[in-house]
Amino acid sequence: MGKTIIIGACGQIGTELTLELRKLRGSDQVYAADVRAECPAILSNGPYVQMDILNREAVRSFIIDNKIEQVYLLAALLSATAEKNPNFAWQLNMEGLFTILDLAKEGHLKKIFWPSSIAVFGPTTPREMTPQYTIMEPSTVYGISKLAGERWCEYYFNKHNVDVRSIRYPGLISYTSLPGGGTTDYAVDIFYQAKLGKKFVSFLSENTELPMMFMEDAIRATIELMEAPSEKIAIRSSYNLAGCSFTPRQLAEEIKTHIPTFEATYEPDFRQAIADSWPGSIDDSRARQDWGWKEKYGTKELVSIMLENVNVELLEKLH
Ligand code: NAD
Ligand code: SER
Repeated sequence: MGKTIIIGACGQIGTELTLELRKLRGSDQVYAADVRAECPAILSNGPYVQMDILNREAVRSFIIDNKIEQVYLLAALLSATAEKNPNFAWQLNMEGLFTILDLAKEGHLKKIFWPSSIAVFGPTTPREMTPQYTIMEPSTVYGISKLAGERWCEYYFNKHNVDVRSIRYPGLISYTSLPGGGTTDYAVDIFYQAKLGKKFVSFLSENTELPMMFMEDAIRATIELMEAPSEKIAIRSSYNLAGCSFTPRQLAEEIKTHIPTFEATYEPDFRQAIADSWPGSIDDSRARQDWGWKEKYGTKELVSIMLENVNVELLEKLH
């Protein structure tokens, strides 16, 4: 297998994906790339390149000159940050995708992974067990960019035979790196506040159910999808994927079974409207059927492993 690059490698998913792909393929075969000038210490076991995905020519030259074969394109603005800067969110979330799709169309790349999101669904989508194919009228700029991206991925596959693969990730929960500005971020922050012995103030209301997944499951799904034989990948827009679903109150109650003194209160802000437009649970039967997806972590397992592993120093370092 040829070389791989992860663009947006310093983020919540990129950090863990880079480490896992380096374990599987060898550190020198997997480039971490990000707009950030400095490589975080955790990614220093392999090559790092400062790269702005919006600099189309620099990205093209690097990929062609270094004979990269696979790209994981993770650089994007997430839902909450995107609402604050819609024009830039559209530019970042779309232009980079075209740069990478075009490289594959010209024969410079063999395979692309590009993540979509549950944000492609909207207020008119059925909320429970949201099907793979359903009404999709997203009401956020992030969701609009992800839905447009899905359509372009499928188009490049159909018209230009580009091997592009994608997952509609639910909210991802992890302890190695912090989330970067999404509506599901509360479900990571809550563990740090619980470990610090503080009262948690949720920016979503207590009964807002959203689909979630532990990062280890998400990384495994990503690699399984990328390694599946091409003929098994029947969906070239993006696959629904589910781990578990919970509300802030249910999550707080599960944490209380470990830390009985833990307390949460609910003060919804602008992110509530985003969450209200998304599904509560996802039907991922196509991913199970096509390439054998199965989650390992439910809510209970996810809470136990997060409480065991969150390191409050990570939070303090970044504030
Ligand atoms: P993140 O915000 O944690 O990380 C994004 C990374 O991209 C950051 O390290 C940032 O520095 C980098 N970046 C920003 N602008 C860049 C640019 N111009 N050039 C190069 N790098 C740039 O995001 P994440 O949570 O790791 O998400 C990665 C992808 O997965 C995104 O496309 C996101 O939409 C998608 N996704 C994430 C979740 C989730 O819960 N984390 C859920 C659904 C989909
Ligand atoms: N976790 C992401 C967000 O909240 C979903 O794509 O933006």
